Amino acid sequence: MWVETQRPYLVMGLLDYDSIAYAIGERIVEFGGRVIYTAQNERMSRIFLDRRARAEARAREDLDVRYCDVTSEKEIATLFANLGPLAGVVHSIAFANPRTCLGEEFHTDAIEDILFSYRVSSISFARILFHAAPHLAPGGAALAMTFDTSRVYPFYNWMGVHKAALEAIVRALARRHGRDQIRVNAISSGPLHSKAASKIPGFGKLDAIWNRSSPLLWDTIADRREVANAAVFLLGPLSRKITGQTLYVDGGASIIGGDLQDFERASESGVGDQTSRSSERY
Ligand SMILES: NC(=O)c1ccc[n+]([C@@H]2O[C@H](COP(=O)([O-])OP(=O)(O)OC[C@H]3O[C@@H](n4cnc5c(N)ncnc54)[C@H](O)[C@@H]3O)[C@@H](O)[C@H]2O)c1
Repeated sequence: MWVETQRPYLVMGLLDYDSIAYAIGERIVEFGGRVIYTAQNERMSRIFLDRRARAEARAREDLDVRYCDVTSEKEIATLFANLGPLAGVVHSIAFANPRTCLGEEFHTDAIEDILFSYRVSSISFARILFHAAPHLAPGGAALAMTFDTSRVYPFYNWMGVHKAALEAIVRALARRHGRDQIRVNAISSGPLHSKAASKIPGFGKLDAIWNRSSPLLWDTIADRREVANAAVFLLGPLSRKITGQTLYVDGGASIIGGDLQDFERASESGVGDQTSRSSERY
């Protein structure tokens, strides 16, 4: 059994059909699990979900979407007050003002912006788990989404700092919730096209860095599904003894020093047919 089928998973951070949250939720459903999503607010989910619903097979009505702005302690409490037992919780949420916290210049005097993005992108995971823990049975799991913090990337600036904090929070929560037998982990994903990614000035450069350095071919669209596969693993019973970890699902780019050499590259047509592997169904 890959996922728990009795209780639903709460997947937070649905914006549109490109959201990592949506990929994770869909994969859970494909494995026989149930999903409740959260979006930041009704206006956002209406704008994006309605627009895409016309083109998508799964209509909006098929999705159970609740609303929760994670900067509101009251909204978090209300969300969980209206939920029953859960199998797991996914935090796929981040925000930073691109004009002050991301871009070419790291230095900024927009301290309030830094604090706000820290609250949304890092602290909120702890607040979510505080409220979620009573709904999780032993063996339940919480998962956060991060981006390589072992190195410093251009443009990512303060979000890189917040992701490092988020990973520290994951470890602290793993320790805290060991007594409840609740597991807490993170996935460090390679760059994927999404609304949040499109807000990062120079996101295309990150994409190019992956092209130059990832031993496995990395597809910024199709590999959302590979991230979702790892999420299913970390949320489900097969990872029962894993907690406090950050699992890299990034094609291996984060362990490479410098760029790959030409002789190290997989040919597009071929070695192990890695391109087609991205869209393989299993
Ligand atoms: N796309 C990538 O390249 C990539 C790589 C590594 C990690 N991540 C992380 O994955 C997660 C999901 O990002 P995504 O790429 O799917 O983008 P996305 O834009 O689809 O998702 C970001 C979500 O955060 C939500 N959010 C922002 N502020 C909020 C608030 N105050 N309250 C509640 N929700 C709020 C947005 O509404 C949105 O649903 C983020 O943590 C992101 O940092 C993304």
